[in-house]
Amino acid sequence: MALNELLQLAIEKKLFSIGLKNLQKDAKNLSQKYKQRSLKLSDEEKLAYIAMRLPATLAVMQEVFFQLNSFYQTTRIKKLLDLGSGPGTSIWAAFSNFLSLEKLTLVEQDPFFLSLSKDLSIEHPDKNKVTWTSKDLRKISDFNEFDLILLSYVMNELSHEEIKHLIEKWVKSTSELLVIIEPGTKFGFENIRAIRSQLIKNNMKIVAPCPHEEKCPMQENDWCHFYKRLERSKIHRYLKEADLGFEDEKFSYLIASKHKEKEYLARILRRPIIHKGHVQLTLCTKDGLKNEIISQKDKTHYKLAKSLGWGDVYV
Ligand SMILES: C[S@@+](CC[C@H](N)C(=O)[O-])C[C@H]1O[C@@H](n2cnc3c(N)ncnc32)[C@H](O)[C@@H]1O
Repeated sequence: MALNELLQLAIEKKLFSIGLKNLQKDAKNLSQKYKQRSLKLSDEEKLAYIAMRLPATLAVMQEVFFQLNSFYQTTRIKKLLDLGSGPGTSIWAAFSNFLSLEKLTLVEQDPFFLSLSKDLSIEHPDKNKVTWTSKDLRKISDFNEFDLILLSYVMNELSHEEIKHLIEKWVKSTSELLVIIEPGTKFGFENIRAIRSQLIKNNMKIVAPCPHEEKCPMQENDWCHFYKRLERSKIHRYLKEADLGFEDEKFSYLIASKHKEKEYLARILRRPIIHKGHVQLTLCTKDGLKNEIISQKDKTHYKLAKSLGWGDVYV
C-alpha cells in the first residue's frame, strides 16, 4: 500500500469513533481559530486537524523536500530534527524523500499531538527510526547532531526574539541544512523574509526558493508564496462542505545551507501567462524581479517556458 493510503487509513481509524457531525463542528472551530491566529486548540480540534490540515501540510512538505532534492545532495541527510512536529507530518514526508535517513527526531510540547503522531505511524515501515521527544523546542541546547533542522508551520507560534535566537543557534551549529515552511500569507512571509535577512548577514546560503543571496526584491505590500494542489479525501470534503475534489494550499518556504551546491538563474513567482505567440513570466533573479516575455520565435526557451509552472526554476 502507498504511504499516503496508509496514512489516510490511519487517520480514518483514529476518527472512526467520533460522529462526523461533531467532527465538522470541531473543524469549523479550528478554521475560525486559525483565522484569528489563536493557537489554543482543544483535543477535538486537534483531531479535526489531522483530517483537514495534515494532508495539506504534508503535501507542501513533500513539495519543499522535492525542491531540496533538486538542488542538494540529500543522501548526506542521515539525521533530521523536526521542531514542533505536531501529528508527525514529517514521518510521512522525510523517509520517502531522503533515502539515506537513519534517524528522525520529533520534538513536540503538546502530549496529545505527540501521542497522535505515534498512533498514526503505527504501520509506517520506518517507524523504528523515529524518536519522539516531549519538550519545548526552545530548550533544545544545540543542533550539532543533526544534518537537517525542520520547522514546519511553527514560526508563527514563536516571538520574533525566539525566532532570532533559534536561527542564531542553527548558524553557530555544525548542522548543514535548515528548512522552514510557513503559510503562504503576508504574515507567514514576513517571518521568512526576516529569517532570510538574518541568515544572509551571517553568510549562510539560500538553496531555495531564492536563486541568490541579494536583498529580497519583493515589494513591501507583496509576499513570495507558492501553492500545492492536493486531492481532498471524502472526509476532508465533508468537513469543509466543499464541492471540489481538490484544494490549493498556499505556502512560503526557505531552505538554507552552510554551502551552496547548485546555482540557478531565476525562479517563477507567478502563474505563467500564455498569450498568442509568447509566454510571460514573472521571475525572481539576482538583479531583482523581472517580467520576461519569451517569444514563439525563440523555439527552445518558448517550449521550456510553456512547460513550466509557478514555483519552478527557469534556466
Ligand atoms: C501548526 S502545527 C505544525 C505541525 C507540523 N510541523 C506540520 O507541519 O504539520 C505547530 C506545532 O508546533 C508545536 N509547537 C509550538 N510551539 C512549540 C514549542 N515551543 N515547543 C514544541 N512544540 C511547539 C505545536 O504544539 C504544534 O503541534
